[in-house]
Amino acid sequence: MTKKGQDLKPVSDFIPDKAPDRFIYQMNEDKHEVALKTEGLQVRYGDKLALSEGDLSFERYKITSLIGASGSGKSTFLRSLNRMNDGVANVSGKIIYRDLDINSKDIDVYEMRRHIGMVFQRPNPFAKSIYENITFPLTRRGKYTKNQLDEIVETTLKQAALWDQVKDELDKSALALSGGQAQRLVIARALALKPDILLLDEPSSALDPISSAQFEETLLELKKYYTIIIVTHNMQQAARISDYTAFFHQGKVIEYDLTRKIFTRPKVKLTNDYISGNFG
Ligand SMILES: Nc1ncnc2c1ncn2[C@@H]1O[C@H](COP(=O)(O)OP(=O)(O)O)[C@@H](O)[C@H]1O
Ligand SMILES: [Mg+2]
Repeated sequence: MTKKGQDLKPVSDFIPDKAPDRFIYQMNEDKHEVALKTEGLQVRYGDKLALSEGDLSFERYKITSLIGASGSGKSTFLRSLNRMNDGVANVSGKIIYRDLDINSKDIDVYEMRRHIGMVFQRPNPFAKSIYENITFPLTRRGKYTKNQLDEIVETTLKQAALWDQVKDELDKSALALSGGQAQRLVIARALALKPDILLLDEPSSALDPISSAQFEETLLELKKYYTIIIVTHNMQQAARISDYTAFFHQGKVIEYDLTRKIFTRPKVKLTNDYISGNFG
């Protein structure tokens, strides 16, 4: 525990003595539409329990940030949400999406991922043209006319705030794009599958400050249409863009609340220590 006089910079009139060990905001499902929630989720890599307590509800059309130190289980949690840990880790518990437990064996994982899309930390455009990067996953799954594809390319590139920069060079290789542009391209590619929910794992960690700021604006625009769950190590970013924030520590969600509460009046001392940079 923190002793009086120790150099802790409180972000609020936070009182360590009265702090609970964990606080998980319970979403009122009559007032807030829940897009996705986890129940009793645990993740094991072999014998190692990497996520032991991570029950969260995510509100539709909101941005939720997952924050916490490296190794705290953020990616483990995020990747479990659309079954990217299949074959890598043992994921037990329920992941409820539209009244379905999408963690159950009989779920068509490829179909589910059309609804719950993921963008990784490092943009991974295919070695194809900008246009084909967006259309390739679609044409593998169904039949589209050229007009339909043109329209999808334009719409998703506009949504990802890349259209104006690339509209005259859609045939150019995607590998020639800058880091920030490539990140927006892979977001457009994810959007082309018309997901409901977008999972983003440190998507702007490789971007320069200007691209990162543009990227944040893009996310704020996208949340009109998508539910976004984003892992970020940048606390200013979490504070700026997200509606809700979950703080992870050693495989547990320690605190989950409205972002403004987490950053101004956290209820748990550990959260306060982390966000005031006073860890360890
Ligand atoms: N594929 C894996 N195999 C074994 N252990 C893993 C694997 N991925 C992550 N871990 C472990 O699980 C814990 C949580 O990691 P991770 O979810 O990547 O944390 P974060 O994203 O918060 O940095 C860490 O101890 C990490 O070493
Ligand atoms: Mg990670």
